[in-house]
Amino acid sequence: MGVALVTGPTAGIGREIAVELSLQGHDLILVSRDRVRLEELATELGNAEVLPADLSDRDQLAAVEQVAGDVDWLVNNAGYGINASFLDSEIDDEQALLDVLVTAVMRLSHAALPGMVAKGRGRILNVSSVAGWVPFGTYSAAKAWVTVFSEGLAAQTPAGIHVTALCPGFTRTEFHERAAMDVGGPGWMWLNAGEVARQGLRDCERGTVLSIPSMRYRAVSMVAQHAPRSLLRSVSKRRGEDG
Ligand SMILES: NC(=O)c1ccc[n+]([C@@H]2O[C@H](COP(=O)([O-])OP(=O)(O)OC[C@H]3O[C@@H](n4cnc5c(N)ncnc54)[C@H](OP(=O)(O)O)[C@@H]3O)[C@@H](O)[C@H]2O)c1
Repeated sequence: MGVALVTGPTAGIGREIAVELSLQGHDLILVSRDRVRLEELATELGNAEVLPADLSDRDQLAAVEQVAGDVDWLVNNAGYGINASFLDSEIDDEQALLDVLVTAVMRLSHAALPGMVAKGRGRILNVSSVAGWVPFGTYSAAKAWVTVFSEGLAAQTPAGIHVTALCPGFTRTEFHERAAMDVGGPGWMWLNAGEVARQGLRDCERGTVLSIPSMRYRAVSMVAQHAPRSLLRSVSKRRGEDG
């Protein structure tokens, strides 16, 4: 067993991933902003150290890059959404979102890969989203980047290194509450964070490049990937008009 660096392990999908990797016997490096919650989790797991960092801050990200060079698993999970149209949002908020969802994923992958290549083995699990299939704001565009970036890396890396984009649909975590999004919707549309985490880890271990938990979201993804872009744009436009 080796060392796993997980970003965003203080809640939701990242927490479930950290617990699972810990149960598998990996030593963990836990990265996010909330030091108190990180330390509580590290105490609970018993085989983890904490590295508090805001991944939208380039200096703090650089400190994480320093330790990413020697890990066996890199899980780029940290993320959030902005509950405002691009026409109304603050540009600094949009930039910070892109820094966490895209720049951190790119820089940490770049930092981790040479060590993995030297060992001939490594796992990179990037938490993307089915939102990447549809055109809707910076979040969707960033997740589209994460998915395509992961697919490109998977094609470029040697056989012992697996890169997976985990693309969940709506999952019960703190995500929507933090963004003050009132999603609602029927129960069947919501995934369980533990199941999403375990599916992503299993698929990454197997070398599956696109991991889409649940039949229903695999069906949604199939439709979104094959529907005319003009249809997706009109759905997005209607959603924007609905607010
Ligand atoms: N929930 C869904 O419906 C859903 C669906 C598809 C994809 N996803 C993706 O799944 C991933 C995990 O989200 P979640 O649903 O589990 O949300 P969550 O419960 O809100 O957890 C988000 C995690 O990200 C960390 N984080 C947020 N901003 C950060 C920053 N600037 N620097 C460092 N860490 C930061 C948070 O930790 P701190 O507060 O301690 O910093 C927290 O641990 C995200 O990439 C999200 O886009 C979620």
